[in-house]
Amino acid sequence: MQRPAAGPREAGAGAAAPVRVGILGLGTVGCGTVNVLLRNAQEITRRAGRRIEIVQASARDIGKKRACPTSGIALVPDAESVVRNPDIDVIVELIGGLDPARALVLEAIGQGKHVVTANKALIALHGNEIFRAAQERGVMVAFEAAVAGGIPIIKAIREGLTANRIEWLAGIINGTSNFILSEMREKGADFADVLREAQRLGYAEADPTFDVEGVDAAHKLTILAAIAFGIPLKFRDAYVEGISRVTRLDVSYAEELGYRLKLLGIARRTESGVELRVHPTLIPRRRLIANVEGAMNAVLVKGDAVGPTLFYGAGAGSEPTASAVVADLVDVVRTLTTDPTNRVPHLAFQPDALEDLSILAMEEVRTSYYLRMHAEDRPGVLADVTRILADLQISIEAILQKEPAEGESVVPIIILTHRVVERSMNAAIARIESLGPIQGRVTRIRLEHLHADWH
Ligand code: NDP
Ligand code: HSE
Repeated sequence: MQRPAAGPREAGAGAAAPVRVGILGLGTVGCGTVNVLLRNAQEITRRAGRRIEIVQASARDIGKKRACPTSGIALVPDAESVVRNPDIDVIVELIGGLDPARALVLEAIGQGKHVVTANKALIALHGNEIFRAAQERGVMVAFEAAVAGGIPIIKAIREGLTANRIEWLAGIINGTSNFILSEMREKGADFADVLREAQRLGYAEADPTFDVEGVDAAHKLTILAAIAFGIPLKFRDAYVEGISRVTRLDVSYAEELGYRLKLLGIARRTESGVELRVHPTLIPRRRLIANVEGAMNAVLVKGDAVGPTLFYGAGAGSEPTASAVVADLVDVVRTLTTDPTNRVPHLAFQPDALEDLSILAMEEVRTSYYLRMHAEDRPGVLADVTRILADLQISIEAILQKEPAEGESVVPIIILTHRVVERSMNAAIARIESLGPIQGRVTRIRLEHLHADWH
């Protein structure tokens, strides 16, 4: 293993010289980071043992008005020049996306600089390569802000729960989707209007389809699963379904049945492999996590020793995310002089101890279901539907048949089932949709009880 390059970075490491930071990107999170570092400079120095000084930052348009002071920071349009600046010890990557972020982070590592990033897409897709490079160069890549904004969930799983065999975790890990679902349910708001508001508040990704189609949550879930189970990052094997097709009708039927609709990321060990899935999920309303609203996030982690633990806090936004970025910076500063082999491993487990467990295909996953269908109001239809479910060994938990709307002969039928493997449910839905009196498609939403003893 190579040690980080000697030079100005190491010269001050033992003394009280400030640690010099370069920030790539001065948008929502970049400016939040500057503001928090300036406002809490004294407290942060007392904790870190050294002053953290932002010497340079990059942004595409350096003439743009910023939400943070930039005096004393050399602002440049060329991110690469920050990475190559020999006076900088730590690079904070807050640009987002893969290109040019991946190349910049690898370049920084190559230069022997430590990296802090909030970029979940980058870590989920290229983390294996980045951590390998960092390991070889003996530098740290810290990414607390990449998952659940301000909640210190990476540290909690990687360090606080290190005694446990993690059995499963389930999280509301996309603030934008949770904000949209909350506003739809509480105010009957329109999907597109709420998404615009989430963008205005700085919660949404540069491409908001990442939020509403579940991709951002899957990036974060991939990272959580890796550190929880000691497996490589496997984003491409995750099942990803977002909230874009959720209707207000399903949100309100779910409420009538005692459930709340959330976009959940679920990672669970089973005997046949790891479940890694993001999809809209009904959860019992009495669960604490069902009551997480707005842009707040929560992650429920079940460890064999500790039992269920719940972590809650702001999942997006300028300063909540900066809180995690600055915590990583302090961690980096505190361990600058530590032997790299004695640092907490990037993915919680020693790199040579990762297990390449397979990720289950969605067809193999077992879960409960909410089904909504529209049927012609005539005798025998419900019997036909329940016969199909019985033939496939799918047991019913509840059935709700609504009155037809005035002047209409089509009735909504809602069925809740017990747990069954998804392959059987796919077969059942295909058969139900082929029944003459069933109109249109069957809506299927997965349902999880999140019992502490879920095996
Ligand atoms: P913003 O879009 O607000 O800021 C991005 C910054 O990067 C801007 O300063 C922009 O310059 C600069 N930039 C964009 N593209 C390039 C490029 N190609 N080359 C160089 N600089 C570029 O993003 P956020 O601050 O919201 O997000 C930053 C990162 O943090 C992302 O990875 C995001 O996923 C993550 N994150 C965001 C959270 C949030 O709540 N917003 C929460 C947790 C993580 P300019 O300002 O001139 O346009
Ligand atoms: N777009 C993300 C979200 C930002 O809404 O959760 C925080 O990672």
